[in-house]
Amino acid sequence: MSVRRLAPKEQQPASFDFTPENLAWAKKQIEKFPPGRQASAVISILWRAQEQHAGWVSEAAIRYVADMLEMPYIRVMEVATFYTMFQLQPVGKKAHIQVCGTTPCMLRGAGDLIDVCQHRIHHDPHHVSADGDFSWEEVECLGACVNAPMVMIWSDTYEDLTKDSMNKLIDGFAAGTPPKPGPQIDRQHAAPEGGARVLKDTSANYTKQFDAPPKEPALADAEPKKQTEAANAQERPAPKAPAADATKDNPPKGGAPKDPGK
Ligand code: FES
Repeated sequence: MSVRRLAPKEQQPASFDFTPENLAWAKKQIEKFPPGRQASAVISILWRAQEQHAGWVSEAAIRYVADMLEMPYIRVMEVATFYTMFQLQPVGKKAHIQVCGTTPCMLRGAGDLIDVCQHRIHHDPHHVSADGDFSWEEVECLGACVNAPMVMIWSDTYEDLTKDSMNKLIDGFAAGTPPKPGPQIDRQHAAPEGGARVLKDTSANYTKQFDAPPKEPALADAEPKKQTEAANAQERPAPKAPAADATKDNPPKGGAPKDPGK
């Protein structure tokens, strides 16, 4: 993952202000927290600032949000630079593609997806394509590892990608007809490829077994659990029968067998 820095000065807008609607929304977010804890609203308000400002957070927006929440500028800066959900540079108008580059995705072909981005968008991450429509970056795990490799575009994930489906994905966004988010192969959510492999029999006979009452009724809270035999008693070997010539005066070797109850 690349170092996360603010966009250069020449790309920074001179100021930032919420629209009246977003300002009213932000005030409602702040009211959700107890007095003195308004800083807890920082992520949601910063996110709204990003949505308002063409999908990225400017330095002016960071200062604006910090003033609103009475936080030191550096604290809001820390949040904005820590989370990759916040973009610090201008992004493509149609799609900003976040390619997961963590181990499971890399092992399943994330390198191919980066290759496509480099050829179709820009060789370097955080650069907008010549037409201004696309940008890309590599990020850490986005939590869909089971369907690796995957990318996130805005708030949606596109999974089980290949070079071909990645190209189709970009074509879809370019044409304004992006594909359905989620797996791009024959897979339901995170279920096995090709459909279900277990619990496929839904016939009445099969499902009846799950409806059968338990063999023993469950204990009620008031009912004490019966003590079970101690493990050492269960494992103790049965006493040996005394030898035929053993008498009271002539006990068997090792003494008489003890009563297990004593
Ligand atoms: S490793 Fe890519 S989503 Fe987790």
